[in-house]
Amino acid sequence: MAASVWRRVQAVAGRQLRVPRPHSRSAGRSSVGAAPVADGSEEPDLPNKATAKTFSALQAERHEQAERTILISCPPNVTEKKFYNYLASYGTINKYFFYETFGIYALVEFSGKESIEAVQRASTIPGLQHECAVPFKSRFFNLRNNHLGSQTAIHPSVHRLKQSVIPLNELLQNISEAKSIDEQLYTVLEEMQLTEENTRLRFLVCSLIKEIAAAYFPECSIRPFGSTVNNFGKMGCDLDMFLDLDGISGRNKAKPGGAFSVEYQTKRVASERVATQSILSVIGECIDQFAPGCTGMQKILNARCPLVRFSHQPSGFQCDLTANNRIAMRSTELLYIYSTLDPRVRALVFGIRCWARVQGITSSVPGAWITNFSLTMMVLFLLQRRNPPIIPTLDQLKGQAEKDVHIIESHDCTFASDYKMKSSQNTETLEDLLQDFFEFYGSFAFNNMSINIRKGKEQNKPEPSPLHIQNPFEQALNVSKNVNQTQLDRFVRAARESAWILQQEGLKHPKANPWGFSALLLPNSQTSMGKSKKRRRQPASERIKNLLDSLKANKQSTDSLSRPNGHQKNIPIVR
Ligand code: GTP
Ligand code: MG
Repeated sequence: MAASVWRRVQAVAGRQLRVPRPHSRSAGRSSVGAAPVADGSEEPDLPNKATAKTFSALQAERHEQAERTILISCPPNVTEKKFYNYLASYGTINKYFFYETFGIYALVEFSGKESIEAVQRASTIPGLQHECAVPFKSRFFNLRNNHLGSQTAIHPSVHRLKQSVIPLNELLQNISEAKSIDEQLYTVLEEMQLTEENTRLRFLVCSLIKEIAAAYFPECSIRPFGSTVNNFGKMGCDLDMFLDLDGISGRNKAKPGGAFSVEYQTKRVASERVATQSILSVIGECIDQFAPGCTGMQKILNARCPLVRFSHQPSGFQCDLTANNRIAMRSTELLYIYSTLDPRVRALVFGIRCWARVQGITSSVPGAWITNFSLTMMVLFLLQRRNPPIIPTLDQLKGQAEKDVHIIESHDCTFASDYKMKSSQNTETLEDLLQDFFEFYGSFAFNNMSINIRKGKEQNKPEPSPLHIQNPFEQALNVSKNVNQTQLDRFVRAARESAWILQQEGLKHPKANPWGFSALLLPNSQTSMGKSKKRRRQPASERIKNLLDSLKANKQSTDSLSRPNGHQKNIPIVR
């Protein structure tokens, strides 16, 4: 498996067209579940292609696609042929696929919106015996089987694509087969990144939520941001959404000339923040009351960035909906641009995020932990500081912007949206970069220096937070203000140990078990889950020393070193 992934990665890295990956976990991205017709030449948009689209062009394309798409809960014994024939009676299907969460679902993209209207005209509101259905007509349907007797299949005969996170032991197995640390990191990227189908599902959920918000604000849009679209998202990451009212507010509209002009009568509130809170509160209420599949609504309106949080059960996504959050949208685009400039960017970010999760440095619950966003900034900073650099600084990107000036709430968010970098002269391997990441941050002067991707240089720390990473746009803010000294110390300790582990000759060879990057992914029970003080103090390097000793002993007795033996727990890597 790793070999096929590697061939594909080489193709992408070499900026050539992609090659099929029949054995990869995410194989089928472009073919499985594709409609038997009208699927011909369409290629999913992969990052790092020479033809990488601009962020806004890609977003617009996916939004439009999502509006022609429906979600269907299928009966348990659904058969693909009957399913397809039935839905094709409403119009041409461009693409469809099945997946399973609590039940079987299908996502179906029609070639025109009129097909969806036809499905909606034919659909009925269910009559329930002891309850009452809220008659909200969305694009999420139930497919009912009217001829139960005629169905022969007991089990579904459809290919269901996984939407789940790869378990750690499966990931370790896959990367153990790689031939180099670079190959290991590209395999991590390949196995963990969002699939084409998962991305489609995310845009569909945004589009379904938009239908609720559009009841009040018909011209609004709901746009995903954060790791769903910045190219650093892994399966299982949350779905960050932004309610964009700019089209309504007239913020970008030129003032009309002439003797008169008209404006809307509106309610007035104390500040933009108050308006955002009240809009989110109402939309959150509607989602809670009317949107099928949305549960567990929490309103977190007093946060620095007010939001409503809920889960979308049919997709399994945890959703955060914000409004008036255009700077985060801009930082998402910035990260997207960085991700497309060199294939090593994504591979290293995914590797570091994966390492940090296994080491207990990041967590799925909010707290004093380092966030994935901060980790990404740390990787970008490292790549800016190489000689020659692998990616430009934000100031250099700004210098290329020409007319593309973006000022948001008086913050300068200008950078070139279509920045095309000549291939970097830097030829360092991912192995070099990984080693240097750990060495660099294992000895970084966190006590008095700040990380600044705008300048690509560390700066004196303006305030005493343990970890200071300057917000690239709101420059007076620190994106890692939440991190406390204990968590920073944990990160530094793990970085030092990992640097040490990577230097061990005995762990550099694919014959060792584990070897290379896998040796950094030993679940760190001592630091993240261990209960006893004694166990907690034992550093990973101690365990690795023991491992090396046993490797030496093994080597003397046999030449063939065993592969991972599956005694690891099935630990899913969540964000
Ligand atoms: P995961 O969800 O962990 O996969 O990563 P993420 O990048 O989506 O992070 P998160 O969901 O925490 O935040 C979503 C987006 O909000 C980020 O990608 C950033 O664009 C933005 N963001 C998050 N935290 C900060 C912060 O402290 N400052 C600023 N300016 N933006 C932030
Ligand atoms: Mg997120």
